[in-house]
Amino acid sequence: MALHTSVSSPLFLLILAVIIHPSYGAANHLNDESPVEAVCRHTSSHEYCVGNMVPGAPLTAEGIASTALGWAQIRALEVGTIISSLLKDSASGVHTNHRYQLRLQKCWDLNMKAMADLWSANGSFYSKNIKAMVKYLYGAAHDTKRCQVLINGHNLTVLAAKNSDIIKLSEICIVSTKFF
Ligand SMILES: *[C@@H]1O[C@H](CO)[C@@H](O)[C@H](O)[C@H]1NC(C)=O
Ligand SMILES: *[C@@H]1O[C@H](CO)[C@@H](O)[C@H](O)[C@H]1NC(C)=O
Repeated sequence: MALHTSVSSPLFLLILAVIIHPSYGAANHLNDESPVEAVCRHTSSHEYCVGNMVPGAPLTAEGIASTALGWAQIRALEVGTIISSLLKDSASGVHTNHRYQLRLQKCWDLNMKAMADLWSANGSFYSKNIKAMVKYLYGAAHDTKRCQVLINGHNLTVLAAKNSDIIKLSEICIVSTKFF
């Protein structure tokens, strides 16, 4: 992974801070780090996380969770719309491919489950049941990953990109709860 790190970049300074103060890397304490940097550093998609969480006002860990969850919900709705239109197209097509339709149908069901989980996660977040929230987020990410496997190799790049967003945003949300 190319990090494009220059001497003055915040990432470089962060790495320096971690080296100088090993405790920075050890615990889930914010210290002098911004919550966004602290959370994103613990996700598998650092650049995506920072890119999505930095614009706008500085966020607290709760703000990150709420932002990531809100975007995940929007992406899940978009996925539902895309699958529904793909199903319509494939049903009206001359060359109906039943196995392809079946995969889309399965993805539709998984997207429904993911949405139910994301909406439940939102409810748990507001009732401050963070353990339940995290469980629902793992569920949403898991079901979305199953759809990704089903559509793999079918050139459904827009759908795959939205699914990928849901997975990354759920992870950001899960990680952010460790900093509440
Ligand atoms: C999330 O939950 C809160 C509290 O129940 C609610 O006001 C809000 O509309 C929900 N947001 C979404 C997108 O479901
Ligand atoms: C994938 O889809 C795009 C447009 O949606 C098309 O231009 C491209 O040729 C397709 N690639 C394959 C391998 O089918």
